[in-house]
Amino acid sequence: MCGIVGYVGEKQAAPLLLEGLKRLEYRGYDSAGIATLSNGRFTVHRSPGKLSQLIERLNGSYPAGTTGIGHTRWATHGRPTEANAHPQTDCSGNVVAVHNGIFENFPERKAALQAKGHRFTSETDTEVFAHEVEEAFTGDLFAAVQKATRHLRGAYAVVVSSSGEPGVLVTARSGPPIVLGVGQGENFVASDPVALAPWTRDVIFLEDGDVARVSASSLRIADSEGRERERSTHRIVWDAVAAEKGGYRHFMAKEIHEQPTAVAETLGGKVSLETGELSFRGTLLSPESVAGFDRVLLLACGTSWHAALIGKFLIEGMARLPVEVDYGSEFRYRRPVVNERTLTVGISQSGETADTVAALSEARRAGSPLLAIVNMPGSQIARMADAVFPTHAGPEIGVASTKAFTTQLAVLFLVAAKLRESRGLERGLTGEERKALAHLPAALKETLDLEPQLESLAREYQTARDFLFLGRGLHYPVALEGALKLKEISYIHAEGYPAGEMKHGPIALVDEKLPVVVLAPHDGWREKTISNLREVKSRDGIAIVVTTRQDEEIASLADRVLVIPETIPELQPILSVVPLQLFAYHVAVRRGCDVDQPRNLAKSVTVE
Ligand code: G6P
Repeated sequence: MCGIVGYVGEKQAAPLLLEGLKRLEYRGYDSAGIATLSNGRFTVHRSPGKLSQLIERLNGSYPAGTTGIGHTRWATHGRPTEANAHPQTDCSGNVVAVHNGIFENFPERKAALQAKGHRFTSETDTEVFAHEVEEAFTGDLFAAVQKATRHLRGAYAVVVSSSGEPGVLVTARSGPPIVLGVGQGENFVASDPVALAPWTRDVIFLEDGDVARVSASSLRIADSEGRERERSTHRIVWDAVAAEKGGYRHFMAKEIHEQPTAVAETLGGKVSLETGELSFRGTLLSPESVAGFDRVLLLACGTSWHAALIGKFLIEGMARLPVEVDYGSEFRYRRPVVNERTLTVGISQSGETADTVAALSEARRAGSPLLAIVNMPGSQIARMADAVFPTHAGPEIGVASTKAFTTQLAVLFLVAAKLRESRGLERGLTGEERKALAHLPAALKETLDLEPQLESLAREYQTARDFLFLGRGLHYPVALEGALKLKEISYIHAEGYPAGEMKHGPIALVDEKLPVVVLAPHDGWREKTISNLREVKSRDGIAIVVTTRQDEEIASLADRVLVIPETIPELQPILSVVPLQLFAYHVAVRRGCDVDQPRNLAKSVTVE
């Protein structure tokens, strides 16, 4: 969480920094700030609240300077006030620093620095870093940052600048990400390549422990041992426009509507829809290595964890391998039984979620090979894995995940098919599966055409206090995801439940005011789910049913029915989640909520 950006070159830094921060606001929006250096002095502007408040304060008059740093904050240490906003400075204002992460030993270091006469003005751990650099600086900022980081423990990505060495930024990371953007006569630093999309596509991902010196004409990188390092430059193929709203009112709406293309892009190159042949690079899923696995472990957080739950159904059902699913945050504290016979799969949109990263490292240490399903190329999870299956969803900016989820499901389906093949159960995809995959983007488009119905449903139920989402089998995780979407962006309490478990508790909540969204596609669970629907109706609950065919029985029981296209059961969740995304979106819009930046949340959670 927190977004950081830095610029050094010939252009005026402030407008660039603000533009970069706009693209990073998904990482936090409790406060924002920039610092630029001109005539040997830093000018710092900070504001609590969103970036727009800072821009309003500046009122078109941007501070001068061709070197600068900027920050958008998700508060951890210290309330979201102006004093706690970044950049933080040293005693004299000669050092400015921005930080993403937590310095765990900052209270001790703060006391030690105070004892030496340093004066502090904020509650943040970041300010300690600025003072550590001040203390260590003797004319070489790179050396000062190397020294400063040795005093501090925790997870950090920092960018710092000093008036004592103008035209230079120094950045360091241990945990949260940092990319360097390589330009012509200018260079950049950011938390995410998306921030740099308008100016450069050539980026260098720093490794853990790296410290880099960035000037307009040079880049110097040293690793954690202080050895000089060459890190390779990656070309990001994303279009700068992909990180714009493209005529939509919100990123979330745009991203929901991008799903047909995102899923098609994700499938491209991984499977031949003519022959059903699965093409995966590397040997991790070859028959020889799969023969060495006796189970699969799926690790993820948030929406990606819901994808993992569906992945369990797919892998167990198709490849007949036992699958365990866990949250990153739980896995690493429960003494899990993992070894080289476990195939670990990490699922993450950002590839940077701290809990997932830590859990995967834990599995790694136990000898388990690691497969990553990630959306951010070059991210930490992508880099630590033995094999990567990318989701090609493009940048996902809205905090509530949508297209990342459906593309993860598409990849999980292919992984399940590949495991099945390598276990000698089926060669490639079956004819029916190929047909279903080929039709999937069109079926997604058709599902999106239901939007007017979801708008009207949102109008009707926007004032409900609680919602229940029910589903069975593959649709139980879809129910969880529908409830999560609604909670995240509209702040309505919602629970997802396995439909059969309703009678063990949630049924007590059902009355004439409770809308219950029931996922009842025509699959093997339909009849059972209809029984649960009857239970809801006989207690006067409001039943909103998502199904796949015109169905008289359902029509006679439901208050509202949404008919989505039918596909094979393994791919059905990719379609059935779409009306739930649209519903949450329209409820949030009607309630006047901040759809893309819901309160207290962040897109990329890089702290534990
Ligand atoms: C945050 C986001 C969610 C996301 C989760 C996991 O909570 O708000 O949308 O699902 O992190 O993120 P990841 O990038 O690992 O998929």
